[in-house]
Amino acid sequence: MPTRVQYQRLFPLLFTVLLGSQFTFAQPREPLGLLPVEWPTDNPYSVAKAELGRLLFFDKRLSSDGNVSCGSCHRPELAFTDGLEFPKGVGGNRAGDRATPSLINRAYGRFQFWDGRTNTLEEQSAHPFENQREMGMSRDCVEDELRRIPGYAPLFAKAFGNPKISFDRVAQAIATFERTILSGNSRFDRYMAGDRSQLQANELRGLQLFFGKAQCSSCHSGPNFTSEEFTNLGIGVDRPPLDKGRSVVTGRQEDWGAFKVPTLREVSKTGPWMHDSRMKKLENAMNFYRQGGILNAGRDRRIVKLDFDDAERADLIEFLKTLDGEGWQQIVPPTKFPD
Ligand code: HEC
Ligand code: HEC
Repeated sequence: MPTRVQYQRLFPLLFTVLLGSQFTFAQPREPLGLLPVEWPTDNPYSVAKAELGRLLFFDKRLSSDGNVSCGSCHRPELAFTDGLEFPKGVGGNRAGDRATPSLINRAYGRFQFWDGRTNTLEEQSAHPFENQREMGMSRDCVEDELRRIPGYAPLFAKAFGNPKISFDRVAQAIATFERTILSGNSRFDRYMAGDRSQLQANELRGLQLFFGKAQCSSCHSGPNFTSEEFTNLGIGVDRPPLDKGRSVVTGRQEDWGAFKVPTLREVSKTGPWMHDSRMKKLENAMNFYRQGGILNAGRDRRIVKLDFDDAERADLIEFLKTLDGEGWQQIVPPTKFPD
């Protein structure tokens, strides 16, 4: 039995007419190479909700000093990361010990954060607001601030059917917006779809290395180049400050020093790389894998010394750059916010 969302994908016009514009599900089409986004049944897509989410995502008034929005750290032009070693939060101060991840293709993620401590995007969005170093708010403060701005209530009404402002709705709108941040239709995707002219010889050699002897695809797998696993490469448990990663969330010994496998889509733009930003160049990351990561008690068995020379390393990097795609460049900060 097709779900409502699937029906609606087949007959978007019908749904538009029947349900009115605030409930249209004419969600952005996934670019080539990606799977359909599964919209949660309790938070389906609508244009009005995604647009409200975009405003909230970029509105700096929702931080304690009025200077920080989600978009300050997740900057659209950098594939929704910040280009910094460590994030800057309220007061312009360093906001933590982990790098800001890209928000590309989070719609497919089953876990959020490097250690996966939340599952849904709805749940995740409370954390930066409540984090005293990131945005320095509370759920109540966010609601109060939004109620002080008369221009927001009508937008909540358009998105949710009535003007009630609640933190849950804020979270739903932001999550809806985030699920529209997609990247596909890269040269790699077009090559895979049959257009052999898309990749040059060196990029093809890199592709073969990636899926072949370097076994990158044992973790960076599937359409989003991640198995969604948590694995230990040795980063975080080799020197202070110790970061035990996933095990802090699960309490399980086998998760010690394990971090979420990130997507490699748009990876050319997401540096510095790794959860502690230790790699300033992609060459550093390739060298790291070549030497077999960092030996430690929990190292994943797939991380082994690899045999490739510097020319092959260059091929691998050129291949990674073919994962630059589209589906997110149209998203820009609003030029005007509700008054
Ligand atoms: C001060 C910088 C900063 C601000 C502001 C910020 N974030 Fe983040 N964001 C981060 C960092 C750093 C992480 C990773 C933290 C970790 O894994 O422990 C992160 C992680 C995430 C993730 C998980 C991504 C993944 O790959 O697992 C999502 C989603 C996200 N942020 C969305 C938001 C939203 C929505 C807002 C606004 C409500 C926001 N962020 C505000 C820095 C920031
Ligand atoms: C055992 C699973 C595994 C294998 C195999 C693997 N990776 Fe990773 N990769 C990860 C994890 C986990 C991270 C994040 C680690 C961290 O930040 O602590 C990562 C991070 C990266 C990053 C940085 C991404 C970012 O946005 O910071 C790049 C680039 C990368 N891997 C490329 C590769 C390449 C190329 C190969 C093959 C040579 C490879 N990986 C093999 C698990 C793996």
